[in-house]
Amino acid sequence: MSAVEATPEASQPKGTPPRERQWFHSAVVYQVYPRSFQDSDGDGIGDLRGVIRRLDYLATLGIDVLWLSPIYASPQDDNGYDISDYQDIDPTFGTLADFDELVEQAHARGLRIVMDLVVNHTSDEHPWFVESRSSKDSAKRDWYWWRPPREGMDAGAPGAEPTNWQSFFSGPAWELDGATGEYYLHLFSRKQPDLNWENPEVREAVYAMMRWWLDRGVDGFRMDVINMISKDLPLRDGRVLDHGPYADGSPFYICGPRIHEFLQEMHREVFAGRPEKLLTVGEMPAVTVDEAVLFTDPARHEVDMVFQFEHVGLDHGEHKWDRRPLELAELKASLGRWQAGLAEVGWNSLYWNNHDQPRAVSRFGDDGQYRVESAKLLATVLHLHRGTPYVYQGEELGMTNVPFEGAQSFLDIESVNYYRAALGVGRAPEEVLEALREGSRDNARSPVQWDASPHAGFTTGEPWFPVNPNHVDINADAELADPDSVFHHYRRLIELRHSDPVVADGDFHMLLPEHPAIYAFTRSLDTQTVLVVANFSSDDQRVDGLSDEQDWGAAELVLGNYPVPGAGLPPLRPWEARVYRRRA
Ligand code: NOJ
Repeated sequence: MSAVEATPEASQPKGTPPRERQWFHSAVVYQVYPRSFQDSDGDGIGDLRGVIRRLDYLATLGIDVLWLSPIYASPQDDNGYDISDYQDIDPTFGTLADFDELVEQAHARGLRIVMDLVVNHTSDEHPWFVESRSSKDSAKRDWYWWRPPREGMDAGAPGAEPTNWQSFFSGPAWELDGATGEYYLHLFSRKQPDLNWENPEVREAVYAMMRWWLDRGVDGFRMDVINMISKDLPLRDGRVLDHGPYADGSPFYICGPRIHEFLQEMHREVFAGRPEKLLTVGEMPAVTVDEAVLFTDPARHEVDMVFQFEHVGLDHGEHKWDRRPLELAELKASLGRWQAGLAEVGWNSLYWNNHDQPRAVSRFGDDGQYRVESAKLLATVLHLHRGTPYVYQGEELGMTNVPFEGAQSFLDIESVNYYRAALGVGRAPEEVLEALREGSRDNARSPVQWDASPHAGFTTGEPWFPVNPNHVDINADAELADPDSVFHHYRRLIELRHSDPVVADGDFHMLLPEHPAIYAFTRSLDTQTVLVVANFSSDDQRVDGLSDEQDWGAAELVLGNYPVPGAGLPPLRPWEARVYRRRA
């Protein structure tokens, strides 16, 4: 689907096959969560005209692709990930005319637009589901997963759900429809019924909708939980979770038996033969490296890259609300394995943040004394890996987690439902709140901090979610004016990826894998090698143990987050990151 240039044979080390070099190897994607990005009409909710207004800001940052979280018509049960019309814009966000203007203006600045594609489920208010639920004989009954109560049990009786699976948003993954006496499957909220991809009519309808958006000018799709669309039949009970009473159904819907077939069919039906440079990224919880190789092997025509979740699960215990500190050696082992696993075939996506993750600087860095340094360090480490980096709105400003007070400050359905469910099984409210403060998706959803004014320049009205009080110090206006800001550091990293083929395509080699505080690796291509050394701690750290330390002493310092250090390879200061370059 994408323009492919073969790497010239001459530049390949002897013995390795030529790798395909593709445009997205040197591209950086920026995610906009429209609701919290920029309001243009004073209703307190971000919108498309707000995005248009900030395109010059994004062009200054230098990004290549803008991924828009869902803007389709939606009851907003899950902030737009519950779609009731795939071919219209929710009035909260604007109109199709606004959307067309956004595409045009983005393209005029050389930016591509990628849509969020949410087709594991629809909203329960989508006409397909309304028709499906209307009767057992409806022509669309089989577009969703309908099942009678468990054998021998009455509909609605405790435990009568067709399987014992837990939904991602707490409670059972099945909802009873009183009118027909059957249950429908919803892996997420009860307002997000799962589509039945076994039905070819469903697949055809989805592909037609995707073609419609491509014809309208969009440049690709980020595919929501796309590795859940193929279910392993028959649907059956899973292992009951320790914190019960429901079970883990994931073995029956993660990378199910027809997933590769469906994605290849989608490619044929939607992307094949289109000349544009399109981008496809599949969000894939619990995907393994081996599966990711298959999904992203260009020869298989499935997707360009996947979002994997291993590294953002390392500070979780049994589940995401059970938090533990990150061990740096585990992070290196994990990301290093993904780098190695996709070195020859396939491609990685690289991210710390998105709308579902707490802010990285609060989570993996130090959002107090070393906020600026640690935000730059995280960016440096990520953007120097091999893969396509994703920047989530506000990350380029070093935005932090939200200082939540009580339970009423949480708005996200996942957090709200979890709080209720956890208290229901007797957990102490303060303990549950602590887990929410650290792990809630709401941390990512406070409005972007544009300036120091009362609503941070996000809206002239009352924001739907309070702006973080730290916007008086942390905001885009201040950072644009300061050449040493986190923003300008991101800008330099993006520029480096654009200009330096070793950053886009060089081989990755992890160093000091066991070191508890230093993250170090090299990238090499042809005659160049780049060394990244980063101190994930608030203490000074000597860089010992690189096999060729003395050679790095004379290397060129390409980028750092502190005033230029002395000659040689001096100790790293708290949260210091440096990038060196050497030519053979
Ligand atoms: C993954 C999305 O990123 C998340 O925000 C959403 O709640 C679920 N999929 C359900 O669509």
